[in-house]
Amino acid sequence: MRILALESSCDETAAAVVEDGRKVLSSVIASQVEEHRLYGGVVPEIASRRHCEAIVGVTQKALDDAGLTLGEIDAIAVTYAPGLIGALLVGVNFAKGLALSSGKPLVPVHHLRSHIAANYITSPELEPPFLCLIVSGGHSHIVQVKDYTDLHVLGRTRDDAAGEAFDKAARAMGMPYPGGVEMDKRAQGGDPDAFKLPHPTVDGAPYDFSFSGLKTAVINLIHNAEQKGQTLPVEDLAASFRKAVVDCLVKNFVKAARDTGSRKLAIAGGVSANTLLRSRLEQECRNRGWKFYMPERNLCGDNAAMVGSQGFYEYISGNVAGLDLNACAAMAV
Ligand code: KG4
Ligand code: ZN
Repeated sequence: MRILALESSCDETAAAVVEDGRKVLSSVIASQVEEHRLYGGVVPEIASRRHCEAIVGVTQKALDDAGLTLGEIDAIAVTYAPGLIGALLVGVNFAKGLALSSGKPLVPVHHLRSHIAANYITSPELEPPFLCLIVSGGHSHIVQVKDYTDLHVLGRTRDDAAGEAFDKAARAMGMPYPGGVEMDKRAQGGDPDAFKLPHPTVDGAPYDFSFSGLKTAVINLIHNAEQKGQTLPVEDLAASFRKAVVDCLVKNFVKAARDTGSRKLAIAGGVSANTLLRSRLEQECRNRGWKFYMPERNLCGDNAAMVGSQGFYEYISGNVAGLDLNACAAMAV
């Protein structure tokens, strides 16, 4: 079964053709990051307008790259929630138009479920059940993936998402948006123990995260130094911050795995590209004899191949939408 998948939840307009949930026939991404960088973050109004301009060309290219016409596609999958509402609406309405004109089924895909599905592409042998840490610009969740379309959230962030904390702290360190990527690079040359930073926990909720205090601590350090006319060593600051975020993520994720008896772990989302997070979890899992899965780096961030993968499993579980499908800015997994 070949699915044409569309993704427009944030600042990437993406289309892909995926066969049977695992084989990527084409994947095209038009990124708006250069433009949003001018403003230090995603400007929702601009994102929606750029999706409108890009979506036809990106979709056509995905079909061309796969060597297929719309008539040879079996279903249209689209990210419908959660995300920037104006951005999501572009993808959803375009997908509805394609479904209406071609008579193909329309499959709604949840953005976090699709991030998890990036692992099915990278690791064709991976099947639920497993435990997944989803860390992106908007979410930090620990999810029990009981089956492809049966998920249970064990923990989540109470404030900032891990990616959001990376981006805001990086901005205070003078790095361009999206700062998480840049901070990961700069941290490689720094001393992770140079600065003692808080490792916030949430009372009575051992799987939940809280990153805003950690982010504020680092921003205060920078501002206090500036007031004294000092400049802090950015590499050391980046390394210390990255370590603190990764410590919190790893600690709660490993605890959740132990408490639930999960021996198969996966990570997903933009922050799952983080070098330290990947190596630390790989090590933790190897030490315990657990299996560990992570998406290929180019599948960690937003893309449509992961939507095509999850779309396949949604379709075979009977999740098909009518032409009244709407986009939702917020929605549980
Ligand atoms: O999944 P994603 O592309 O979009 C959302 O659904 O939010 O995640 C984007 C986030 C940004 O906050 C970005 O800074 C972060 O992922 N990110 C990273 C790295 N690569 C991307 N954070 C830390 N280290 C990285 N290597
Ligand atoms: Zn995402």
